[in-house]
Amino acid sequence: MPDATGQAALKTALEHHKAGRLRPAAQIYRQILEQQPDHGDALHLLGVLACQCGNPSPAVELINKAIACDPDQPDYHGSLGNALKAMARDDEAVVCYRRALELRPDSPALHNNLGVALQHSGRLAEARAAFDRALALRPGAPDLLNNLGMVLHDLDQPAAATAAYRQAIDGAPDYAEAHNNLGVLLSEQGSLTEAIESLRRAIELMPGYGGAWINLGNALRDRGDLAEAVEAFERGLRIGPVSAGAFGNLGKALQALGRRAQAITAYRQAAELAPDAAEPARQLGAALLAEGRRAEAAEALRRALELDPAHAPSHCELALALYQDSDPGPSIAALRDALRADPAFRRARFYLAVLLDQAGEDGAAEAEFAALADGPGDAGFLLDSWAYVKQHSQTSTRFFASVQETLAYAIEQARLEGLVLEFGVLHGNSINFIAERVDGEVHGFDSFQGLPEAWGDNPAGSYSAGGKLPQVHPNVQLHVGLFAETLPGFVAAHPGPVRLINVDCDLYSATNTVFEHLGERIGPGCVLVFDEYICTERWRLDEFRAFQEAAARKGWVYDYLVFSLFTRQAAVIIR
Ligand SMILES: C[S@@+](CC[C@H](N)C(=O)[O-])C[C@H]1O[C@@H](n2cnc3c(N)ncnc32)[C@H](O)[C@@H]1O
Repeated sequence: MPDATGQAALKTALEHHKAGRLRPAAQIYRQILEQQPDHGDALHLLGVLACQCGNPSPAVELINKAIACDPDQPDYHGSLGNALKAMARDDEAVVCYRRALELRPDSPALHNNLGVALQHSGRLAEARAAFDRALALRPGAPDLLNNLGMVLHDLDQPAAATAAYRQAIDGAPDYAEAHNNLGVLLSEQGSLTEAIESLRRAIELMPGYGGAWINLGNALRDRGDLAEAVEAFERGLRIGPVSAGAFGNLGKALQALGRRAQAITAYRQAAELAPDAAEPARQLGAALLAEGRRAEAAEALRRALELDPAHAPSHCELALALYQDSDPGPSIAALRDALRADPAFRRARFYLAVLLDQAGEDGAAEAEFAALADGPGDAGFLLDSWAYVKQHSQTSTRFFASVQETLAYAIEQARLEGLVLEFGVLHGNSINFIAERVDGEVHGFDSFQGLPEAWGDNPAGSYSAGGKLPQVHPNVQLHVGLFAETLPGFVAAHPGPVRLINVDCDLYSATNTVFEHLGERIGPGCVLVFDEYICTERWRLDEFRAFQEAAARKGWVYDYLVFSLFTRQAAVIIR
């Protein structure tokens, strides 16, 4: 191909290339190269095209050949930088951009690309300098300001980053990415209302912006708008890109809403997406444990511990997942691992001491109890709880490690015909568990407005469902309001003895109200389960106290069916 013809062909190819007609463009570049294998521009442009098609590796080869033909072309070095950046070879890209800038120092695009590569390779101060230079050449350019904002954000200069994003938005009010970045930054600063506004604006501008939906989910979750957060996460994850972090955060929001089965699904997806990360496996394990699915929980926790053997809470959770009152050995081993990982882990030491005591290893147990008493923090309430439990348990008393096992056993032991009741329903997890296991009606009592008064460090209103009733099984009847308001009518309308009560209202006053209204219906064979009976700092002041006082008033004689030191429950049967 004579040179003039070659130039004409290159011009045609470039027209195709610029118009996005890549196939004919590539064909002509190749024809030129057949005639002139060292045609620098054809080699370079075919390389650029390969990179555009997602093939950076052949691109690097072609552009290097172009550079060998003409080493002083800044575009060649810039394009080589782009291809290397596409392969995440950021340090090498930096070298290329710097060479290109030696040849063409006044290119804002090259300074910008250099800045991005530097930022990706963690050289933040240099990246910032590169964006500053790009902006000096193209003052006020929104894309450059947005990039500067991101590096300032990474440099932990939130005020300067905010200013850069805001300036980018002033220049380009429809710049979705800048709104999104500003939203993320504001969320981190705790300005959640403003953050949510920015993120919503980003989404309004670009409804298919998956990342912005996820960021909106995070901000809504931080603000406590959990149901909305779940919707935002789900939208974002449908659009993509998906990430283990986003599924994990969706899981947390679902768990906080009491939607535990869905939380488990979300955590499972997170764990599948990041099989080499310990955190998703840990979250999955903890969620399965809370659902009482102990074998699956043990599997997930073992996986988490393979990846991060020094995570003490996971060892402790594994101990719970493995616990059998007939064979505490595996739990003892897991608790020892927890304490090796964190010798100051008070609860793990307490559980270990108790299990050793139960296993008859008196000396070892004593040593652990002594270490607990001398160790950090106040362990008095734990030691006091164990002293009570030890004194009041009988050979028939069972010890469980999950709420569900305690409830299931209590239901099995409640053989009387009578009323089945729960006080403190909230998300409906426990009442649904009970309803699945009894024939006939189960009555749930709750204001769904949270605790009517403060409970320890929990202010009044904690555990509120905001008045929203949970989804419950068809055999559940909900009685909405304060117990003192709903119980008189209920008692009048429902004669007969009580078969089972699950007390999960935490407070002394609320538990007392239950006994004031139902005391007469509680008699031999009635089973009472308390959710917060022992092992809390104020255990002697709450459900325990209300029951002890009622038992003394009414002359109830009772046996402890269950103690669960891990879940803080107890179950009694009236003799
Ligand atoms: C810890 S939550 C119950 C959790 C629930 N069992 C579950 O599994 O999701 C305590 C609940 O007790 C309710 N509560 C406490 N005292 C109450 C009272 N005096 N009257 C009505 N509801 C009360 C609160 O509204 C709150 O929903």
